[in-house]
This record gives sequence, structure tokens and C-alpha cells, in this order.
Amino acid sequence: VDMATRRGMAWCRWYRAVAVVRDLEERCATPTEQLQRVVNSLAVEMFAGLVTEGGSRVRMLLTCVDALPDGSEEGVYYAIDLGGTSFRVLKVELGAGSTIINQKVEHQSIPENLTKGASDDLFNFIASALKNFIAREGGEDEGRALGFTFSFPVRHSSISSGSLIQWTKEFSVEETVGKDVAQCLNEALVRNGLNMKVNVLVNNTVGTLALGHYYDKDTVAAVIIGAGTNACYIERNDVIVKSLDLLTNPGRTVVNVEWGSYRPPQIALTPYDICFNKETQSYYDQGFEKMISGVYLGEIARLVFQKMAQESDVFGAAVDGLSTPFILRAPYLAAIREDDSPDLREVGRILEEHLKMQDVPLKTRRLVVIVCDIITRRAARLAAAAIVAILQKIGCDGTLCGTSRVRTMKGVRKRTVVAIEGGLFQGYSVFREYLDEALTEILGEEIAATVSLRVMEEGSGVGAALLAAAYS
Ligand code: GLC
Repeated sequence: VDMATRRGMAWCRWYRAVAVVRDLEERCATPTEQLQRVVNSLAVEMFAGLVTEGGSRVRMLLTCVDALPDGSEEGVYYAIDLGGTSFRVLKVELGAGSTIINQKVEHQSIPENLTKGASDDLFNFIASALKNFIAREGGEDEGRALGFTFSFPVRHSSISSGSLIQWTKEFSVEETVGKDVAQCLNEALVRNGLNMKVNVLVNNTVGTLALGHYYDKDTVAAVIIGAGTNACYIERNDVIVKSLDLLTNPGRTVVNVEWGSYRPPQIALTPYDICFNKETQSYYDQGFEKMISGVYLGEIARLVFQKMAQESDVFGAAVDGLSTPFILRAPYLAAIREDDSPDLREVGRILEEHLKMQDVPLKTRRLVVIVCDIITRRAARLAAAAIVAILQKIGCDGTLCGTSRVRTMKGVRKRTVVAIEGGLFQGYSVFREYLDEALTEILGEEIAATVSLRVMEEGSGVGAALLAAAYS
């Protein structure tokens, strides 16, 4: 083959890789009107979910939390926070007047085998981590109340008990499904010789709301964008029609939306979304979560890269590294998108270190950045739509429901605060920028100015300690 033909063939192969990226871009477009429709349909599902159990694509779980910490709590409280990729043990010392005098948080990662093994092993691991922590802290277990943040869908029978409906975020300890997870932990505490008992069992969204509300009474909802994604908000009991035995009327209850299981009919799945659904534990479940959250974003990118490698040789010959599911974790995806060096050095390093692809040419690295950008942008914009749906559900998008006021261009309006936590949101500034941009697009500048997203560092665990205090 002569030089001109070879050049022509190389161009063709490059073009095929570009075509994969263009196609992804088209499929992941989320124009404002489409987001607005996602808002409306999610808000409708939220209404439906309060009427009957199973009557909606979002679970709208009643949490039995009918009072949030008000700042008067005092004393030392412990909490356990079992989320997605990491696990935390906490000790929080509270003083009157919304003061956290001291706080100690210990992070550990859960060994992969425990997320797919026997129920007792998982709870023993948690209980023994707590036991060691208390010993290191020189604390006392004697009859203490314990806050337990368990960030999976739970059907509550009281504030201190509830059964696991299903695992999410690629956990699959099948024995635990249907069991009271607070009891599982209580039994493990006994096995480990600890004299403590779970007095509040909460979702991580609820912990985050509790901490948000502790600092700022205008906080009406909480959102998590981390390994998984979800939200909770304060609902009026008189609009809840289901599970009336769990409500204390008249009053308010925190509702755990579980929006991760939503699948917006307006958003067509890409072949990559569909493809990895087949590999994951909850096949075809958690549609929204799979488009938004940290466990999954890198996986979508990996599948796109794999498709590019099948269509063309842009990555070179050694592409075996692309065939391991979940190898490209969200922090790498963020680092790729945020690499602003002219030669995209960090992108090259990540491709080499994690995907075992060496010397990927600069123009391919540029395509890799674009892929990560497209996936991030769709995720952040969908998360923004979901946040607006919550505001719409509680009437905060026009009339707003905080108690204090803010001055906007057109006058004085009520202020709304949404507490937010999660590694993806906190660790990824481009994600935050896209989310903010979409919030303003959907709400309009005037209303968007009255809504603040307030990051609650360690909110899910610290909030559980606060609730343990409030309910003891
Ligand atoms: C998943 C869980 C949910 C949790 C969220 C964020 O969606 O089902 O309970 O709040 O992840 O961690």
C-alpha cells in the first residue's frame, strides 16, 4: 500500500473513533426543555409514591423521623455510617446552641468480599470496627445509644428498626434482604461484647438533612451525590396517604425519596447504559443512579472507550486494560476531565496506570477528555433536574418554603437551603459547575438565587449522631 492510501486508512480509523464520540454527545444531550419534563415527571412520581406502597417508580420511604435536632442536644454520641465505597465510625460531642464541641471520624474501606458475602460477616466487621474505635478513644459503651446510617432502601417499622428492601450500589449480601438491619447490627454488637443499641436507623440523606437543619432552619431537603444518589425532604403528614400507622398527625415527616430507582421516560438510554446494566447486580434497576452517580460514571466511560477501541486503533494495540468492569473509578474520570495541562499529562498517566494503555497519542487523549465531559454533563444536569423536582414537590420553586428571606432582583423572597453531601459532588468542581448551570436554566435566575446548596461535610454520619441525641 502506498503512503497516500495508508494515510487515507488512518484518517478513516480516526474518523470512526470521532463518530463514536459524536454519537455519544447526541445521545447524552439534555436540553433545558427536556430537563423540565424530567422535573415534572419526577414530581408526579413523588406524589404517587406517597399514596400507595409500590405505586410509583420512586419509593418515597417514610423514615419515622418527625423531629430534627434543634441545637439543644448535649453529650457524647457514637454513630456508624455504612454508605457506598467507604465506611465510617464517628464520635461526636455536642454542646448546647448548635455547637459541635468535638468530632472524630474514622474512615475505612469495606473489603470487597464483605459487600458480596454473608450477612453476619458484614455486621461483625462493622461492630468490631466500632469496638476498636471506642477502645482507641478511651470511651465507654455502657448502654449507649447509637446512630446507624445505613444508606440503602429500608422499610421502617419505627425510627430504630427497618428491613432492607434491596441492596444498591453493587452490594449484594443477599441474606440481609428482608431483615431488620438495626437488629442485625444489634446482634453483632452483642457478639462483639458491646453494650450499645441502635436507637436511630437513618438513610444518609436523612443524616445530612439533620446536620443541615441543625445549622440552618431553612434547610428543607438533603441530597447525596456520591457512590449513589438520592434525596430526602420534609413532608407534611396531611399529604401522605400510605402507611398512616407510621405517622404522628398532625406534623411533618422526613421522606426518603430513593430517586436512584427512577428511570426518566424522557431520557433514552445510550447503548453503554444498556450494556453495563447487564453486568451489574441490579440489572435494569436504579436507572437514574446509573446515569448520575460515582459507582457508575467511570464504567460508562470505559464502555465508550472500549467501543472506540473496537472501531479504530486510536488507543494503540494494547487495549486489554479496557475489558475489566468498574476499573475506571469516578475520581479518575474527574481527574481526566479536570486536567488542564497542554499535553494532558494526567490523562496519559491515568490511562497508563489504570487502563494499562501506554503512550496514547495526544489527539486521542483529547477525545478521552471529551467523553468524560459528556458523561459528567449529563449526570450533573439530571441531578439538577431531580433537585428542582423536590423543590417543586414542596412548593419551593415559586413560593419557596424557608422562613427567612433573601433579596432578589425583583424583590424579597423566601430562602431555601438544600444540604448536600457526597464524594462526587464535593470532589469534582466541573460536576458542580454543570449542576449549578442547569439549576439556573431550569429555575430561572430569579428563583435560583433563592436556593442554596450547602455542603454538609460528613453530614450523613454526624447527622446520625445528632439524631441519636435528639431521640434518646
Ligand atoms: C443508593 C441508596 C440510597 C442512598 C444513595 C446514596 O441510591 O439506595 O439509600 O441514599 O445510594 O448513597
